[in-house]
Amino acid sequence: MHLNINLDWLSANRLPILGLDISTTAVKLVELSDAGKGMLRVERYVIEPLPRDAVTDGNIANLDQVGETVHTAWKNLGSRVRNVAIALPSSAVITKKILAPASLKGLDLERQVETEANQVIPFSLDEVNLDFQVLGPSPGSPDDVQILLAAARKEKVEERVAAVEAAGLKALVLDVETFATQTAYEQIAHLLPNGGAGLTVAIIDIGAQNMHINVLHDNESVYLREHGFGGNQLNNEISRRYGMSGEEAENAKRKGTLPESYEVEVLQPYSETLAMEIGRALQLFTTSTQYRKVDQVLLAGGGAMIPGIDEVVAQRTGTPTQVVNPFANMAVGSKVRPQALTADAPSLFVACGLAMRRFDPQ
Ligand SMILES: Nc1ncnc2c1ncn2[C@@H]1O[C@H](COP(=O)(O)OP(=O)(O)OP(=O)(O)O)[C@@H](O)[C@H]1O
Ligand SMILES: [Mg+2]
Repeated sequence: MHLNINLDWLSANRLPILGLDISTTAVKLVELSDAGKGMLRVERYVIEPLPRDAVTDGNIANLDQVGETVHTAWKNLGSRVRNVAIALPSSAVITKKILAPASLKGLDLERQVETEANQVIPFSLDEVNLDFQVLGPSPGSPDDVQILLAAARKEKVEERVAAVEAAGLKALVLDVETFATQTAYEQIAHLLPNGGAGLTVAIIDIGAQNMHINVLHDNESVYLREHGFGGNQLNNEISRRYGMSGEEAENAKRKGTLPESYEVEVLQPYSETLAMEIGRALQLFTTSTQYRKVDQVLLAGGGAMIPGIDEVVAQRTGTPTQVVNPFANMAVGSKVRPQALTADAPSLFVACGLAMRRFDPQ
């Protein structure tokens, strides 16, 4: 599923494009190329840490810092490509499914969608960037098609585009993070039984502040949600236990330089809590929708980098769980260290999905 929230995207087709994920903790850039025979190749990637609070809750709080970090990331990437695909956090986007007569085409369809949008979007249409995608025939009424509508506040769009421009880059595609996740998922869906057909699959992206959840049924998104739990909670616990600042905790955690007691006294209880939060999130999904169970959990995001977290989640939730690697089927270019890529892969899920937008069918 793709959306383009009103950037001049048509001209972007087939132009080289980088995937750029401006997230809470870091700016992430991924460059993919066509390796032939239906295969993609990871040419380059970079993860450039952001100063604290430069981005919070999906808002760009400090445009200068973010612009600078994007620029540094791009320089370190070493690519000549300046066009990027970016995404808004799903919290900044309203999506709705609406119906329209199947006979409408082109401008008529656009007008009809705008009229409908006026009723379902709680903002004036002057204040939003709007996009839509025809999903297919409506199961309930044969003369209608189902349409996925997305509306983002203009200021949210402009803020991200400004950060990209401040870095000397050009935003050609604007997507939604959860949809980018889904694009990346489509690369690896065939690893699941029946390629995911008929299955209910929960993609859980564990970021710093939030868990971003996208549940698919039959490879179509049926549920989006954010829960306020993430890697920051682990840092807070480390800070509390060892008297460190947030930054020191983050560094020590990544470098593995924490005292011996960390593993048993901090990391294990945190993993249990994380698994429990995931269990609750899945329960909320099954009790509030028609779906009775989740067949597969896929973990992504930096929070999925905790060794063995998949087993803890599988045990707690009674659901098969895997940490995803969106690059599993891709070739790896000479500038990328395969081992580092495998380690970083979960946190590059969104950036990977965005980088794949370069290969959209025309
Ligand atoms: N090796 C690791 N072990 C444990 N936690 C890690 C590891 N590497 C990163 N993290 C944690 O993952 C989180 C960052 O993940 P990620 O990069 O996916 O977040 P983000 O995309 O910046 O956040 P968001 O999606 O909420 O904007 C941080 O809380 C970080 O501490
Ligand atoms: Mg993220």
